[in-house]
Amino acid sequence: MRKMTEENLNSAFAGESKAHMRYLIFAECAQKEGKPNISRLFRAIAFAEQVHATNHLKVLEEVDSTTRNLEAAISGENFEVDETYPSYLEVARLQAEKGAQRSMNFALQAEKIHSAMYQKAGQQADEGKDILLKDIYICSVCGYTIEGEPPQTCPVCGATKDKFKKF
Ligand code: FE2
Ligand code: FE2
Ligand code: FE2
Repeated sequence: MRKMTEENLNSAFAGESKAHMRYLIFAECAQKEGKPNISRLFRAIAFAEQVHATNHLKVLEEVDSTTRNLEAAISGENFEVDETYPSYLEVARLQAEKGAQRSMNFALQAEKIHSAMYQKAGQQADEGKDILLKDIYICSVCGYTIEGEPPQTCPVCGATKDKFKKF
C-alpha cells in the first residue's frame, strides 16, 4: 500500500476508535440522566463508528488469525506496560497532575494482567486450541482484571466487590 494512504488509514482508524469509545461513554451518561433515546442514539452511532474502524483495520491487513491477533495484542499491552504508561506517569508526577497519575496507574496495573492472560491464551491458540476460561471480572472503577471470583475489595483501587462486572 502507498505510504500516505497507509498513514491516513491508521489515523482514520484511531479517529473512529476514539469516536466509538466516546459515544459509548456518552451513552452511559445519557442513560444515567434518564434520556434513554439519546443514549440509544449514541450507542447506535458508536456501532457505526466500530464498523468504520473495522473496515479500515481490515484494509490495513491488521486483522489475522487468532494466534497472530494475540501476538499483536500482547505486543500492544507490553508496549503500554514497558514504555507508554511508565513514561507518561513520570511526566504526570513532574507536573503534579494527580488525576492523570491515578488514571494512568490504574491502566498500567491492568495492562500487566492483560498481557499475561493473552500470553496464556496464545500458548493454547498456537496448538490450535481454545482456552479453558472461568468467569472474568473487571473492576468498573479501575479496570483491574481477574479470572475466577471477584475479590472483596479491588487490590488496585479499593472498590468493593459489587463494582465488578462479569464476563
Ligand atoms: Fe465514522
Ligand atoms: Fe489492556
Ligand atoms: Fe479497581
